[in-house]
Amino acid sequence: MVSFLHVSILLLTVFSAPLSAQSRVFMTARVGSLVVLPCEWRDTLSPSPHIEWITFSGTVFERLGEEHYEGEGYEDRVDVPEDKLKKGNCSLELKEVKAEDAGVYESYLLVNRVKRALSSKRVFIQSVELSVDESPESSQHAEANLQLGATDDATVNCPSLKITGILLIVWLFFF
Ligand SMILES: *[C@@H]1O[C@H](CO)[C@@H](O)[C@H](O)[C@H]1NC(C)=O
Repeated sequence: MVSFLHVSILLLTVFSAPLSAQSRVFMTARVGSLVVLPCEWRDTLSPSPHIEWITFSGTVFERLGEEHYEGEGYEDRVDVPEDKLKKGNCSLELKEVKAEDAGVYESYLLVNRVKRALSSKRVFIQSVELSVDESPESSQHAEANLQLGATDDATVNCPSLKITGILLIVWLFFF
């Protein structure tokens, strides 16, 4: 009974993996912002899925039920909420984005092998390439203020024009 379930999970994941293997999502996030790296799988046969997000340099986040692991450098900044994970939403929430966070992120579902329960099989779900925008948001405002300041003395008084006019009238009156 149990092994039949495991075999079906394995077969499903093995055949559905190549379809999604091509897809890589490209995203850009501003320094200090929150970004959600998308991830979703359709077969929710496992009631408590084991999910893992990794980069080339190591594990970013891992969740199995209530237990989770936050990778080095990602402490208190990453999560895949448990309630969403149960519904097949394995999106990674990454907050307070840093310049060093740029890179390729991959999510995997870990499935236990039928006979050797200790070793698990990794099933690729999603690849996301994250770029980080480091330009500070306030720079454009500062430039605009600078230009506004320059136009302050635009209404220059021109007294010489008035004097010339009066002199002309006086000259015409007398001669
Ligand atoms: C999955 O969860 C994230 C937040 O963790 C949310 O932004 C996103 O809209 C969800 N996706 C779906 C398809 O519900």
